[in-house]
Amino acid sequence: MSKIIVDQHRQHGQISKYIYGQFAEHLGRCIYEGLWVGPESDIPNVNGIRTDVVEALKDIRIPVLRWPGGCFADTYHWQDGIGPRDKRKKIVNTNWGGVVENNHFGTHEFFELCRQLGTEAYINGNVGSGTVQEMSDWVEYMTFNGVSPMADLRAANGHEEPWKVKFFGVGNESWGCGGNMRPEYYSDLYRQYQTFIHNYDGKNPIYKIASGPNIDDYNWMDVLMKNAAPYMDGISLHHYALASKWENKRPALSFPENEWFSLIKSAQKMDELITKHSTIMDKYDPDKRVGLIVDEWGSWLDVEPGTNPGFLYQQNTMRDAMVAAVTLHIFQKHADRVHMANIAQMVNVLQSMILTDGAKMIETPTYDVFKMFVDHQDAVALDTFDQLADTTSASVSKTDDGYFVSLCNYGLTASDSVTLEFDQSVGKVTGQILVGQKMDQHNDFDSPNEVQIVDFNDYDLAEQTVTANVPPMSVVTLKINGK
Ligand code: AHR
Repeated sequence: MSKIIVDQHRQHGQISKYIYGQFAEHLGRCIYEGLWVGPESDIPNVNGIRTDVVEALKDIRIPVLRWPGGCFADTYHWQDGIGPRDKRKKIVNTNWGGVVENNHFGTHEFFELCRQLGTEAYINGNVGSGTVQEMSDWVEYMTFNGVSPMADLRAANGHEEPWKVKFFGVGNESWGCGGNMRPEYYSDLYRQYQTFIHNYDGKNPIYKIASGPNIDDYNWMDVLMKNAAPYMDGISLHHYALASKWENKRPALSFPENEWFSLIKSAQKMDELITKHSTIMDKYDPDKRVGLIVDEWGSWLDVEPGTNPGFLYQQNTMRDAMVAAVTLHIFQKHADRVHMANIAQMVNVLQSMILTDGAKMIETPTYDVFKMFVDHQDAVALDTFDQLADTTSASVSKTDDGYFVSLCNYGLTASDSVTLEFDQSVGKVTGQILVGQKMDQHNDFDSPNEVQIVDFNDYDLAEQTVTANVPPMSVVTLKINGK
């Protein structure tokens, strides 16, 4: 039994819609096949980008998309990916499977994808193997509106108008694949590189993100904040949920009961990480101007049997839906510090929204959670008084019409009766549910609708309370109108 007391005046900031962000890397079949099929493909596409995937993704209202990596970003030389496609350089994707990268998807194709999705761009620049000049030129190429070598080159390549770059990452995992640096060295490099990311468009300044710590590397956070906080708008954090040790990834399907719980527990560590990193950030940034940007998160499991281990292609089950719901709840709890998050990754890699196989496409249970939660985007986070059952997680936000509530019961057997008490009369309730009958319930290409969102009516409405009966292995959302 759970109880949530809602006081509409206990507001703790707007839930940035950007915490519902996505990430697409040149990794496995994320970009190629998953998003880009090329204009000549038999798979229906608009300007080379597959229509089925874009249409599905529009329904989860993606606010921001990070690209081109990940580890790939620190090997990416953007000039390889512009100009006539048949003349572009073919390179080796050294991080991900050693496959040929033909650079057919480059800057112009990325902004075309953003246009089709109606999403903002988060570009991750190359510090590990790229120069300051190269990064600076890329920003000029994308955003300068006038006469300059890079703006002229962009126009010669068919795009007269500049694009808008909302977010820019200065390197990725600079402590690891991005250069194996020490924080003292990287913080100086960060200061140098970011100096040459010019804000050509005075109206839309670029939000600059430093490459932050891996999981609980609190020293990295401390050194970066001490040395470079005034030069950054955000600092990243990466944490993946694991069912066991890093060296022993566990299967995405047919897993034992203890791995249901170990994966969710690992995801819940996000709360402790944000709390502790935030405390360090507070020392140097008490007004919380600098955002904590969790630009890689999600379940990291074994690849599907028979697939390329370098492609990180994994199935996605009701367990991943629980990971998504509890993690998004944690971000909302820390709405004052977490300004953006990007689940890894959008299509065919790790905890994806969409899986594809040739012309076929399926939506995953994680996609369903993102779809169910859209009303939290840009709503006001409420600080509720919670007495929650051990396996219940919840978040309540204030919207223009009333309240939006999301509940997750990750218990395996018992329903939870959740009572919401409001400080005002409430009216109409509209509910949705995603519920599993077994732990690894999922969609596949033969059964694409095994897991689906359906209407939820198992609640009682009284004057100032709503009591919902939340079944095990489920995510429930309730739109509750104020009177
Ligand atoms: O998302 C997969 C990889 O995980 C990213 O490329 C890297 O940044 C992280 O280690």
